[in-house]
Amino acid sequence: MPGVRSGNFKVAVLVSGGGTNLAALIKSQQEQQLGPARLCAVIASRPQTLALDRAKAAGLPAAVVSRKSYPSQAAYDAALLQTLAVYQPDLVVLAGFLTRLGPDFIHHYDRRIINIHPSLLPSFGGSGFYGLRPHQGVLDYGCKITGATVHFVDAAYDHGPILLQKPVAVQPEDTPELLQARVMREAEWIILPACVRAIAENRVLWKDGRVYITKQQVQPD
Ligand code: GRF
Repeated sequence: MPGVRSGNFKVAVLVSGGGTNLAALIKSQQEQQLGPARLCAVIASRPQTLALDRAKAAGLPAAVVSRKSYPSQAAYDAALLQTLAVYQPDLVVLAGFLTRLGPDFIHHYDRRIINIHPSLLPSFGGSGFYGLRPHQGVLDYGCKITGATVHFVDAAYDHGPILLQKPVAVQPEDTPELLQARVMREAEWIILPACVRAIAENRVLWKDGRVYITKQQVQPD
């Protein structure tokens, strides 16, 4: 594709836990399904996460930047920015990153941060909807469809222009755990690599504050 920086679109992944979405990105890259995107670093918000083990096993540079080591949100943002500056990422992916990002960080990577959320936003999103809670919410409400959402990140939690969503059917026998596993398998691990690839291939159209994945490369304004 003309204009695409082959293998040179650098992607940093921020994680806090299991890292199965990170694993999906690593697998996509190994199978050459990420287009010109290349994972360049993994930053964890806490030590001893499975996500860090996955990063190390894949030979990716990894670092821990823990919120409790810093006295303020601004100091934490500055530390994260400094850590990432070494890698100069073109895109920052929040893949189960549970620590709040402040305005300094979000402003610095304006339109270059995406997040994956395990529901069809705006349902079951926002503060408090992490872990099993979105899935518990879906079951409590009796929803028949849930899914996952990838969106660009703005100042509000689980907010910002939606890039891609994939639905997943709720089954009568579902528990929050079963639903979580199926949403990951059938939606999250598919749409996150697809979004990274689309962004790296410059196939994202911004229009009136909304975003769309296109088949062809988007021409600059
Ligand atoms: C995923 O469900 C993701 O959508 C949410 O946090 C979870 C992280 O899981 N933001 P993992 O660490 O990728 O396994």
